[in-house]
Amino acid sequence: MKHTQIIIDKDYLIGDTDPRLFGSFIEHLGRAVYEGIYQPESPFADEQGFRKDTLDLVKELKVPIVRYPGGNFVSGYRWEDGVGPKELRPKRPDLAWRVTETNQFGLNEFADWAKKAGSDVLMAVNLGTRGIMEAKDLLEYCNLEGGTEMSDLRRSHGYEKPHGIKTWCLGNEMDGPWQIGHKSAQEYARLANETAKVMKTLDPTIELVACGSSNSQMPTFGDWERIVLEECFDSVDYISMHQYYGNPEGKTADFLASSVDMDRFIRSVEAVCDHVQSKKHSSKQIRISFDEWNVWYHSNEADKLIEPWSIHPHQLEDIYNMEDALLVGSMLITLLRHADRVGIACLAQLVNVIAPIMTTDEGAFRQTIFYPFLHASTFGRGTVLHTLVKSPVYDSVYGDAPYVDCVGVIREEQEELVFFAVNKDTKEGMEVTCDLRQFSGYQVEEHIVLHDDDLLAVNTMDHPGRVQPVTGGESVIEKGILTARLLPASWNVIRLKRMP
Ligand code: AHR
Repeated sequence: MKHTQIIIDKDYLIGDTDPRLFGSFIEHLGRAVYEGIYQPESPFADEQGFRKDTLDLVKELKVPIVRYPGGNFVSGYRWEDGVGPKELRPKRPDLAWRVTETNQFGLNEFADWAKKAGSDVLMAVNLGTRGIMEAKDLLEYCNLEGGTEMSDLRRSHGYEKPHGIKTWCLGNEMDGPWQIGHKSAQEYARLANETAKVMKTLDPTIELVACGSSNSQMPTFGDWERIVLEECFDSVDYISMHQYYGNPEGKTADFLASSVDMDRFIRSVEAVCDHVQSKKHSSKQIRISFDEWNVWYHSNEADKLIEPWSIHPHQLEDIYNMEDALLVGSMLITLLRHADRVGIACLAQLVNVIAPIMTTDEGAFRQTIFYPFLHASTFGRGTVLHTLVKSPVYDSVYGDAPYVDCVGVIREEQEELVFFAVNKDTKEGMEVTCDLRQFSGYQVEEHIVLHDDDLLAVNTMDHPGRVQPVTGGESVIEKGILTARLLPASWNVIRLKRMP
C-alpha cells in the first residue's frame, strides 16, 4: 500500500474560515428557480410556493449565502420586471440562455426564500446592458428604509423593511465574449469603479465584488485582474474567480488532478492582488470571491437540443457520478487551504442546474456531490491548519499531481480536529499517517467515507441512496500517531475529538 505523511503544527495556522466559503448560487436558468426552489402548483410547495423538500435539503447543507440572479442571465436582466404584482410582470426573451423568462419569481421572492433557507443574499447587478443608475436603483430598493422613490416602491410591494443585502457582485464574467455587453478590461474597470463609488455612497456598509476572469484559460487572464484592480482598488473588496472542470474523454487521472490547476489559479490571482496592493502602497488586501466553481460537462450535448425560447427547460442538468464527488471534495480542500484569502465561494449551482440537489415531481434527491459539500460545510468551519501533504505523485496534464489531497481544520468550540482527504488513486488504498503528539487527548470520533467501486455510479430519484457516505473508515491513534487507511478513489472525513 502506498503511504502519505501529513505534517501539522498546532501553531502553524492558515486562518479562520469565513462561513461564506460554503455559499452557493441560484440563477434564473433552466429549472433552478422554477421547479427547483419555486413551484406553487407542486404538492411539495409551501404557502409561498417554495418547495419544502428543496428547502429541507438546502438547510441540511447549511448554505450561508446564495448568489442571485446570475450568472450570464444578469447581464440582460431588468430587476424591475420581477417585482410588484405578478400579473403585471412581463415575459421576456432571456438572451443569455435563449429561453423565455416569465418573471413570476423575482428579488422579493428570493429574499423571502433565502430567509427561510437561513442564507444571506449575494446580489449581482447588471453591468452588461445597464449601468450606474440601475445598480443604484436596485440598491436603493433593497437597502434603504423608505422616503425615497425606490425604497417606497419596495414598501408599496409589501416589503416594509429593507432586505439589507450586504454583498454585491458588479456584473458577471464581463471578460467573456459570450457575455451580453462583453467589455474590454478598461471599459469594465471604469464602469465597475464608477458604479462601486455610487453604490458605496448610497450604502457604505456594503461589500463589493469586481469581476475577475471567467476562468484561468481566458486569453486576458492576469492582465484583466491587474487592470480592473488598478482602477477599482479603493472601491471594491473582492475580485471574483470562476472555474469548472469536466471529463468528457473519460481521463479520470487528469480530471482528478484538476485541483492542482485550481490551486495554481488561486495563487496567481493572489499574486496579482498583492502586486496591485504594493503598487498602491496600501495596507488594504483584496480578497477572493470564488463565486462559481463545480464540475460541469455532462449536460453539454443535451443542452444543444433545447427548443429556443422554451420556458424553464431542463438545462445544465448534470447528473453527477462518484468521480465528480471526488473532484468536488478536492476543490473544497483547495478552497480551505486558501481560507486566508478566499472569503466567499459559491458552489455553482444549488438546485437542478449543475447542482447537488435535484427535484422531480416525486420529490428531491441528493446528488453524489451533495456529500463532500455537506461534510465541508458541517465540519469545515474553524481554523485551517497549514497541512503539509507528503504524498506520492502521478503525472497529469497539470504536471505532478499528488494522489492525496488533504487539509486539517481545528474546531476549537467543538473540541475537534477534522481532516478532509481524497485518495485519487483509483486502484490502490493509501495509508496516511500524522504525528499528533502536540494534540494530546484526541481520539477518533468517526471516519466518514464516500466510495463506490464504480466511479460512474450516480444517484437518481429511483435509487437516491446508490452513492452515500458510511461511517466506519479505518483510523486509529496509537502513541500519538494517527494512522488512517483510505480506500481507492475515496472521499474521507476523519473527525478527532478531545476527550475529557
Ligand atoms: O453557472 C452557469 C454559468 O457559468 C453562469 O451563468 C456563468 O456565469 C458561467 O459561465
